[in-house]
This record gives sequence, C-alpha cells and structure tokens, in this order.
Amino acid sequence: MILSTEKTALANTEFLEETLEGLKQEPKRMYSKYFYDETGDVIFQQIMNMEEYYLTNAEMEIMKHQANHIADVLSDNNAGFDLIELGAGDATKSIHLLKALIDKKLDFKYFPIDISEHVIAELEQSLPAELPALNFQGLIGDYFKMLKKETAISDRKKVVLFMGANIGNMDVQEAQTFCMGLKHLLSPNDILIIGFDLKKNPRKILEAYNDKAGITSSFNLNLLSRINRELDGDFDVNAFEHYASYNPENGACKSYLISLQNQTVNIGSEEFNFSKDEYILMEISQKYSKQEIEELANASGFKVVKYFTDEQHYFVDAVWKVA
Ligand SMILES: C[S@@+](CC[C@H](N)C(=O)[O-])C[C@H]1O[C@@H](n2cnc3c(N)ncnc32)[C@H](O)[C@@H]1O
Repeated sequence: MILSTEKTALANTEFLEETLEGLKQEPKRMYSKYFYDETGDVIFQQIMNMEEYYLTNAEMEIMKHQANHIADVLSDNNAGFDLIELGAGDATKSIHLLKALIDKKLDFKYFPIDISEHVIAELEQSLPAELPALNFQGLIGDYFKMLKKETAISDRKKVVLFMGANIGNMDVQEAQTFCMGLKHLLSPNDILIIGFDLKKNPRKILEAYNDKAGITSSFNLNLLSRINRELDGDFDVNAFEHYASYNPENGACKSYLISLQNQTVNIGSEEFNFSKDEYILMEISQKYSKQEIEELANASGFKVVKYFTDEQHYFVDAVWKVA
C-alpha cells in the first residue's frame, strides 16, 4: 500500500521531471494538467462561472436536460457496469447523470479519477451528502494509471466519461493516441462518453480564453507560482503576461505566457534563460467539427453511437462504443 506522503512525493517527482523537460524544449512548454493544485482548482471554478466561458453552461445544459436519455443508452441490456470518470473535477455536471442512473435503479459503481488529491478529497465529502445511494471509489492519479488500476479492481463492463472538453487539451494527433490507448484498455461494447467543444465563431472562442477580468491569466500564472512553491523555483510572476490565440483553420486555441524581459529563472539547481517576448506554450484547447469527431472515433477503434448537443450547438457529448 502506498502512503499518502509517498504518493505526494511520487507526484512531485513527475511534476518536476515534466516541468524541466518542457522548459528544455524549443519552443518552451508546460503541461496544463499541473494547473490544478488547490489554488488552480479554485481559479478553475471561477473560470467555469465566467460569462465568457460558454463551455460549462453548454455541457451543463446537456447533462441537466438529457441525462435521462444518456442513461437510457447506458442501460442497454441491464448489465452492471463501472462508470469511470477521467478528470472528474467537482462532478457538478456528471452528478446529473449519476442521479439519472440511480433513479433508473441501474447496477453501477462510480470511479472518479483525478490527478488532484484535493479534488478527490472534496468529492469524498460532497458525494455521500448529495447522493447517499451512490456506490463510489475515488482514485487519485493520472488517467491511464488509474484506469489500469480500476480494470484490475473489477472486470465489469466499463463506461468511461471524459467530459469538460479535456480531450481538447491534446492536439489532434495526441488525442488519437490517447483514444487508441483507451480502446486498448477496454473491451468490445464498452462505452466512452467524450465531451468536445465544437468549432464556432472564432471571436466567441477567443473571448472564452481571454476574459476581461483576467481570471484565465491568473489561472496560467498560478502554474509559475506553483513551481515556485513546490519545485523550489524563482519565477517573477509579474514578468510574464498571458496571451491567447485561436486559429479557425485548424481549430487550435492556444494559451501562452510571454516573457516581458530578458530573464533567468532557477528551478532547483537548473537554470532557464528567457528572452524578452519569448513564449511558453501553456495549454491547447482543440475545437472539433462533428465530422472530425467521427474521424477521430473511427481512427482510434470506436464507432459513434449518438451525439448529445446543447441548443446552440456549442458543445457535444459524443457516445462512442468500442468497435
Ligand atoms: C477542465 S477540469 C474538468 C472537470 C470536469 N470533468 C468538468 O467537466 O467540469 C479538468 C480536471 O481534470 C483533472 N486532470 C487534468 N489532467 C489530468 C490527468 N492527466 N490525469 C488525471 N486528472 C487530470 C484536473 O485535476 C481537473 O480536475
């Protein structure tokens, strides 16, 4: 059994290794999965409540109004199943699906997976209070490691939930590799429900990542503060500026931090030089058309069963089955 302190040490080693590796690349990059420490979780809640961040409302509308229909797709042949949510966050959207599944008296166990210890601790508090009938077990760690762990715990049919357009935090090639990896761990007829942000007016997309109040900016800058706190870094957070761009031709929305001056940053014993105006790629948020979603499903060994969209067609939760 791994103790909590050992788990934290392991997580910190990965955080350090990936941070150093990303900053040694040309151009420099960071990994958005590390945005979510305790402060990052709070800032992300604020992002989800921002007027400009249409994604949450659109997916919330799907879950609130169509959870029953999604539950019907899952209750196919009444077989018991494990519902595994990758990057569950606060589960405020998936809770509607959980309620619908409980109301239909389906035999399932919920496994929320999240890299943030804080997120899982909060769910362990909130879920029993909100859904006393829910059978669940939280898993702290990276998507694949925890999914593998879950498949070792139980051999029931799997329904994997991957919401919040988290798939968009990979470029299209990485997304395909990721989905092929999922398919590898699943069995025929297992299900993947995956949330995609759809291509739309470029201005609408850019505004969601470039809010006037600067919340997205503080979300990105918090990663520099986290590196200072946890990895013995000395970033001057005021010497970097958030910049977002959206390219309608390839659907990639990208967030960067721009160095405002020539500067040297130390992380432990490693030194990194930044020139004035040099950028660090912080996050990609890839947008898709339905045709591209279908291509991704087919290329990674799934077939599309159904699409659930909001009224404005901003967002889609696609139900895929292992082909
Ligand atoms: C954008 S939030 C979405 C939360 C929720 N799914 C929703 O739709 O509201 C992403 C969540 O995924 C988690 N996460 C990001 N990368 C992860 C990874 N590689 N493995 C496990 N969890 C990850 C974060 O900690 C965070 O809670």
